[in-house]
Order: sequence, then structure tokens, then C-alpha cells
Amino acid sequence: MQFLENFKPELVISSPGRINLIGEHTDYNMGYVLPTAIEKNITFSFKKNGSENQCHVYSKTYDTGFELNLDKIAVSKVEWENYILGVLNEISKRTDKVRGFDCIVESNLPTGSGLSSSAALECGLAFGLNEIFDLGLSKIEMVQLSQTAEHTYVGTQCGIMDQFASVMSEAGNVILLDCRSLEYKHIPIDLHPYKIILLNTKVSHNLASSEYNTRKQECEQGVAIIQKKYPNVKSLRDVDEEMLLASKEDMSPTVYNRCSFIVKENDRVLEMVDALKQNNLKEVGQILYKAHDGISKEYEVSCPESDFLVDFSKDNAQVLGARQTGGGFGGCTLNIVHESAVGDFVSAATKAYKDKFDITLEAFEVRPSGGTSII
Ligand code: GLA
Repeated sequence: MQFLENFKPELVISSPGRINLIGEHTDYNMGYVLPTAIEKNITFSFKKNGSENQCHVYSKTYDTGFELNLDKIAVSKVEWENYILGVLNEISKRTDKVRGFDCIVESNLPTGSGLSSSAALECGLAFGLNEIFDLGLSKIEMVQLSQTAEHTYVGTQCGIMDQFASVMSEAGNVILLDCRSLEYKHIPIDLHPYKIILLNTKVSHNLASSEYNTRKQECEQGVAIIQKKYPNVKSLRDVDEEMLLASKEDMSPTVYNRCSFIVKENDRVLEMVDALKQNNLKEVGQILYKAHDGISKEYEVSCPESDFLVDFSKDNAQVLGARQTGGGFGGCTLNIVHESAVGDFVSAATKAYKDKFDITLEAFEVRPSGGTSII
């Protein structure tokens, strides 16, 4: 692309991926989540190009790019372009101040690994355009418009967690976010002498998007049934185990299991916050194992590769807990590992995983980090 010659950015933005410590699939059920941004990110280099409506976006990581006209934004056949186009479409509903720009995107955030490269792409673009064109969008508006872009242009009916975490995180903290009121608190997290180690299964089953939307519908079916006995219930957030049991007979076993997972997972977020406050690291680990069990058996969004790695970690006394993190069907497992045992754990897991699946996993430490920022 021609604009790449002599490109001098006027603004560079870092937009991070995220992990979620606990609270999986609770966001679109209006419950609690506990995510944080990590140091892996997408960087955006922006420059206004002086035109009214011509824009160029190039991904250095994938060596591919495209041209677009701000007056003719429409869904593309190329998936990644839709994250960009969707955000531009949402911004255009709020302001007409965007003009032609050139942008280079570079990522060290593995895609399809459950670390929200999608939200990083959406929010980084929104954040950067907000700066260079002085759009006057608040952080929460950028979070919400990025989420809507994913619904309308990408087709995943995602909750708000990923975009929120990417933009609003603070280093050394996880965010306790109430997805109903959008009230949030930064909760300090200090796991010393343990570290958060991610094992990337390197699988992302392409069921993910359609199964994700199915889970959401199953939860809605559950709510509709529970509402017959409890008319005030608006989402699974309003349901406790007793109320769910009272409606068990009226639901299919699948819908019951989905609801049961969400009701317990939501409680686990608050239990995790207590465990962190009391520095009860053993409990932190136990909560993760319980959550993975539900992810695998009740919500059924795990896969043999993630299950294998979580089970493998249970044989190592230096690992306090593990679970698959993110939307599911692969991606990364999150492991709480004693700092003295990280090397041994990673090599043993790598070997066992290679023997079993013939895949070389990728392992890295993550630290709770700050949200989207100007570099
Ligand atoms: C994906 C979605 C989020 C959330 C998680 C599961 O990452 O984008 O909104 O639902 O899955 O917790």
C-alpha cells in the first residue's frame, strides 16, 4: 500500500488483550466478571491523510490491508475488516467528525486464543480516532460502541467484559465489574510467590461464534421459564440456586445445566474477590478448578485440549488452580503456579501435550496491566 512509504504516525495507541480471572459467560447474563488487561497488545499508528473520506488500514502482523470510504461503510467478506468497519459504522452514528486517515496495526496478541484480540482491535481504533479527530467520546461510550460493532458487523452477541477490560484496566488490579449497572471497582491482586501462567492450547475450534450465541439463547430460555414462577426475574443475575431448582422440572436438562453454571459462576466472582482480599491463595486456586469443571460439564464450552491441560495441572502440587479463560472451545488455560516451579511445570505440560495432541503449546506469564493508552 502506497501510504506505507514514508509513513510518520502522529499518534500511537496501545490496546491490550485481557484475561478473565473468573466470571465466564456471566457478562451477558448481567452478572459479575473479574478481568484485567495484560501486557500483550495491539498497537495502532495513526495519521490523518487530509482526504475527506479515504482511509487505509494495514496489518503489519498479517501483511494485509484494505482501503475504505467513510461514506460507504458496509459489512465485508473479510472477517478482520469487519472489526474496523463495525467501529467506524458505530462512530458515524454518534459524530460526523471523522475524516480520512491511515493506520498501521501490529499485534503480539495471539488471535483465537481467548485473550480478546477482537476487543483490542475495536477499542484501539475507537480510542485512536477519538484522540486524533477530537470526537469527545467517553471511555464507556468507546467500550459500548465497540461491543455493538461486534454484534452488528462480526455477528457475535458478546457481552461487555472484553471491551471494558481492554479500556478500563489498571496495572496490579483486576476489575470487579457489575455488568448490569456497569459499576466497577479495581481490586488489587497480589499472588506472590505465585505467577499467572497461560498455556495456549493453540486450538480455536470454529464452533466458537455459533455456540456462543446458542449459549446466550439457552440462558434466555432458562430466564423465560423461571419468570413464570418469579415474574421479577430479568436475567440469570436475579436467580439463586433455590429459584433455579424450583423450575428444574420445567426445563430441558441442557437449559438447566447452563443456568446452573451461570448462577454458581456469578457467586464464584464474589468468592474470588473475598479470597483475594484475604490473600487466601489456596482458595483462589480451588475456585478456578471448580469453575473449569462447570465450564466443561455444565456449560460445555471447553474442549479435550483445555480439559487435558487443566487435569494435567492437578498432578502438580506447585499449581494452586487452573481453568480455561475466555469464551471457550480452546484458547488459553490460566494457571496459578509457584514461581520456583514455573520452568518445570511448563516443560512437563509442553511434553505431555505434544505427546497427546501433537501440538506444541505456547506458555507465557501475564501480569495485570493498564488499559488502552497513548504511547
Ligand atoms: C467472550 C465474549 C465476552 C464473554 C466471554 C465469556 O470473550 O466476548 O463478552 O462473554 O466470551 O466470559
